[in-house]
Amino acid sequence: MNVLHVCANPKPTEESVSKQLAAAFFGKLIELRPDVELVNTDLYDEKPPFYSYELYKSVWYPVFDETYTPSKAEEMAQNYAVKQAEAFNAADVVVLTMPMWNFSVPAIMKAWMDQILCPNLTFTGHPAEGVKPLHKVKSVVLLVASGGVYKEDDERDALSRQVRAAFGFIGIDSLEIVWADGQNALFNMDSDVRKEMAMEAAIETAEDIAELEIEAVAEAVAE
Ligand SMILES: Cc1cc2nc3c(=O)[nH]c(=O)nc-3n(C[C@H](O)[C@H](O)[C@H](O)COP(=O)(O)O)c2cc1C
Repeated sequence: MNVLHVCANPKPTEESVSKQLAAAFFGKLIELRPDVELVNTDLYDEKPPFYSYELYKSVWYPVFDETYTPSKAEEMAQNYAVKQAEAFNAADVVVLTMPMWNFSVPAIMKAWMDQILCPNLTFTGHPAEGVKPLHKVKSVVLLVASGGVYKEDDERDALSRQVRAAFGFIGIDSLEIVWADGQNALFNMDSDVRKEMAMEAAIETAEDIAELEIEAVAEAVAE
């Protein structure tokens, strides 16, 4: 079982709710499957570049013009994306750890998504054929912490919608969300008791989802 963990949080674990969810998730996962092949990408250590014109040309021009040959500079603009896409394509499960910032994913996570969600890296895209996955990812697990509380379909939540839509676009329909909400009084007027309870519940859910992911991957392999 191959798992890719991508973390977008500059804080140390003891100060970060989402990183504590990740610690619970991977603690359980490794306890149950000590042989798991885990690749960790800390985006603050391996910072993604912003999407460039060179990257755009190198990945999209050949989709519409088979004869297009990217220049050396355009090829080089793919370096980060290619390395990250390889790790992504090899994974059975991808775990994304992040806080909610300004109602969406942290910019560094969005930059990583822009790098890997490119034609001929994680999917093939041709106008006549549509999108076909080049990866084998069975599900994405989202470990998120937020100050406020967002019920399902809350239109302020651009984070889970974006993650669901972006990975759904490349054929991943299974998104498991573990959400420690109500963690910041500025966004949530509830008491500290609510905060502690939400975090404890999310940690339990993280451990349960780890177990479910192991079962789901084992079932998929057996098929
Ligand atoms: C720059 C910044 C922006 C934030 N924006 C939001 C927001 O839009 N909505 C929200 O509910 N919480 C927001 N928060 C609060 C965090 O999501 C919350 O404190 C969360 O617990 C942080 O996760 P962490 O402890 O893993 O870093 C923001 C915090 C920061 C630092």
